Amino acid sequence: MASRKKPRPETDDAPPHASSEALDPRALGEEERFDRALRPTSLSEYVGQRSHIDNLRVFVEAARQRGEPMDHVLLCGPPGLGKTTLAHILAKEMGVQLHATSGPAIEHKGTLAALVTRLGPNDVLFIDEIHRLSAVVEENLYPAMEDFRIDVVTGEGAYASSISLPLRPFTAVGATTRTGLLTGPLLSRFGHVVRLDFYAVDELAAIVHRSAKILGVPVDEAGARAVASRARGTPRIANRLLRNVRDFAQVLGRGVVDEAIAVSTCERLGIDSLGLDPMDRRLLRTIVEVYEGGPVGVEALAATLAEPRDTIEDVYEPYLLQSGLLSRTPRGRTVTRKGYEHLGVAPPKRPNGGGEQGTLPL
Ligand SMILES: Nc1ncnc2c1ncn2[C@@H]1O[C@H](COP(=O)(O)OP(=O)(O)OP(=O)(O)O)[C@@H](O)[C@H]1O
Ligand SMILES: [Mg+2]
Repeated sequence: MASRKKPRPETDDAPPHASSEALDPRALGEEERFDRALRPTSLSEYVGQRSHIDNLRVFVEAARQRGEPMDHVLLCGPPGLGKTTLAHILAKEMGVQLHATSGPAIEHKGTLAALVTRLGPNDVLFIDEIHRLSAVVEENLYPAMEDFRIDVVTGEGAYASSISLPLRPFTAVGATTRTGLLTGPLLSRFGHVVRLDFYAVDELAAIVHRSAKILGVPVDEAGARAVASRARGTPRIANRLLRNVRDFAQVLGRGVVDEAIAVSTCERLGIDSLGLDPMDRRLLRTIVEVYEGGPVGVEALAATLAEPRDTIEDVYEPYLLQSGLLSRTPRGRTVTRKGYEHLGVAPPKRPNGGGEQGTLPL
């Protein structure tokens, strides 16, 4: 039996069926509708993540030429970076069907067996939130991924017996916001592990232009860049901001998304020049004001903020870490000098009441 590296998600604060989208308190009901409408449908339409896309193009082409499924792919990264989008694109480029499910939805091994026996040749089985699979289901997934076989139990009681059913070859595409929660054995069964990065402003500006065209919103270059630079490196947030700015442009402006209306919309929504929203700043400010700048453990921080730990780790922290406002040490989270400067608070000379840590991380 596989050893488990981390506690299973059942112990998390979030309900077992919460999706990473549902974990995001900023996600709105109509978000999914727009996500679908604005989702690119081919590798060439997918903006950014260049090296990953170039590699995937080769893997898809090679598999197609051989008439085989692509090797299993794990897509990792914070919410809204394009994991679901990419899974759909891979199936489309392979010319096969995508069957979507999620870790919490596969409740027992029977559910898994029903799913995998339904797959057509070379189809894609997309498992969102794969870190939320139960241990039993995960262990039944191994032979399905490795040998394209699944054990099913037939009969009942004394007549019950297990038979190993052959499956049509398929590609498992897993998505997770938390690679760290995946067990070693599961991770090792993916031939390709794609870690999506936050997007550069130029890339997000290209996404804003593309989305604006689909939505029929006039946007100028400076307006697109103003939205892009406040989108926390995340396409979903860029699209969401664009929709908000469109409303302000329509009601208060001249109908065009330009720099002035983009900046004033962000100010009204409490989004600052780095794209931080009120919750991001509350997180930083809490560490500064309650925990003297840190280090503070994530559990204590979650309790003080009254937010689930998952939300802090999945939604808020990645961008704060990547933009150098927060640092993560073995002793906990610390606000960096840049973080203090961004809040407009003078950094203490000796944080933590004059402990051994004399300087702040840069
Ligand atoms: N590379 C990209 N190019 C253009 N648009 C993108 C790209 N990546 C994501 N998007 C846009 O962002 C939206 C969110 O992407 P997606 O739903 O794929 O994110 P996700 O990583 O699956 O998020 P979650 O972890 O919350 O499920 C998509 O609807 C799409 O419009
Ligand atoms: Mg998704």
